[in-house]
Amino acid sequence: MGSGAREARIVRLREDAEFVETMAREVAAGLETSPRTIPSKYFYDAHGSVLFDQITELPEYYLARAETAILEQVAPVLVAEIDPAEIVELGAGFSRKTRLLLDTLEARGGPRRFVPLDVSREALEAAGDALAADYPWLSFEGFIGDFERDLARLPRHGRRLVLFLGSTIGNLHPDDRIGFCRAIRASMAPDDALLVGMDLVKDPRRLEAAYDDAAGVTAAFNLNVLRVLNRALDGDNDLEAFDHVARWDPQREWMEMNLRVNRPTRLAFRRIHVDVELAAGEEIRTELSCKFTRASAERALTGGGFRIARWDTDPAGDFVLVLARPA
Ligand code: SAH
Ligand code: TRP
Repeated sequence: MGSGAREARIVRLREDAEFVETMAREVAAGLETSPRTIPSKYFYDAHGSVLFDQITELPEYYLARAETAILEQVAPVLVAEIDPAEIVELGAGFSRKTRLLLDTLEARGGPRRFVPLDVSREALEAAGDALAADYPWLSFEGFIGDFERDLARLPRHGRRLVLFLGSTIGNLHPDDRIGFCRAIRASMAPDDALLVGMDLVKDPRRLEAAYDDAAGVTAAFNLNVLRVLNRALDGDNDLEAFDHVARWDPQREWMEMNLRVNRPTRLAFRRIHVDVELAAGEEIRTELSCKFTRASAERALTGGGFRIARWDTDPAGDFVLVLARPA
C-alpha cells in the first residue's frame, strides 16, 4: 500500500501514536463503566471494514438497500437544490452509495471535490483507488480522523454538502446526539447542507435479524473488535469466550450489540494495565444502533441548529434521508 499518488490524496489528521493513546484511554475507561463498553469506532480495521461491507449485502440488512433506493430517487434533486462546491462525507467507508451523488455531479459538470473522513485508512485507500478508476475527473482528498473530534480540521473550499449516511448517527449515544449535530453545524456555513441517513423504528423482529444475520457475518464483525484491541493494546484474549448478542430495547428505541461471556473469563490488555474478571453471562456493550421517528429525528436536528428541508423515505418507510439546512 501507499504509492506516492495515494499518499498525496490521503491526509492523516492525527498521528498514529495519538490515535493509539486515545484508544488506550477510551478502552480503559469504557471497561470500568457499568455496563462495560467498547467504543464502536474500533470495529473498523481492514478486516472489520470488509466485514461491514459484507453486512451491507446481507438479505437481512435492509438498511443499505433502502438508503440506496432513496438516493437513486433524490440525488439529482438534491444536487440541483444545493449546488455544492464540495462533498464532505463523515464515516465514508468505501463510499459506495456516494457514487449516486457523484454520477449526478458528473452529469452536471461539477464540482470536482470529494472529501471523505474516516478512522479507517484501509477503507479510504480502497475508496480512493476505486473512485479514481471510475471518476478520473474527481479530486479525492481523504482524511483519516475522528468525526467526533476532527470536523474543524477539514479544509473548506466553498459550499458544502455534508453526508452522514448508513445510519451511523444512530451509533451515537442519544445523550451525545444533539452536541454532535451542533458540532457539525458549527463546521458549516449558512448555505451548506447536511444529508443524514437514519433507520426508522419498525418491527423488532426485522431489526433483530438485521443485527444477527443467519450467515453469522454480524457476529464475526462484533467479535472482530476484540481482535483489533488484542493487536493494538497487547492482549491475547480468546474470542471463543464471547458470543454476539443483539437486542431491541423498546423504551430507548435502540438496538444494542453486546459481547456476552460464555464462561468465566478474564479480559486483559497489558498495554493499558487492564485485567478484569468477567463472570459467565456478563455483557460488554460494543454498539448502539438507535432507530428514529420523525419526532426524534427532528429533536436531534433542530436541537443542533438545523431545520428539516426534505424528508425522503423508501416506499416501505423503513429508512429516511433527511436534508437538514442551518436554521
Ligand atoms: N458510510 C458508509 C459506512 C458506514 S459504517 C455506509 O453508509 O455504508 C461506519 C463508518 O464510519 C466506517 O467506515 C467507520 O470506519 C467510520 N467511523 C466510525 N466511527 C468513526 C469516527 N468516530 N470517526 C470517523 N469515522 C468513523
Ligand atoms: N451504522 C450501522 C448500523 O447501525 C453499523 C452496524 C451495522 C453495526 N451492523 C452492525 C455495528 C453490527 C455493530 C454491529 O446499522
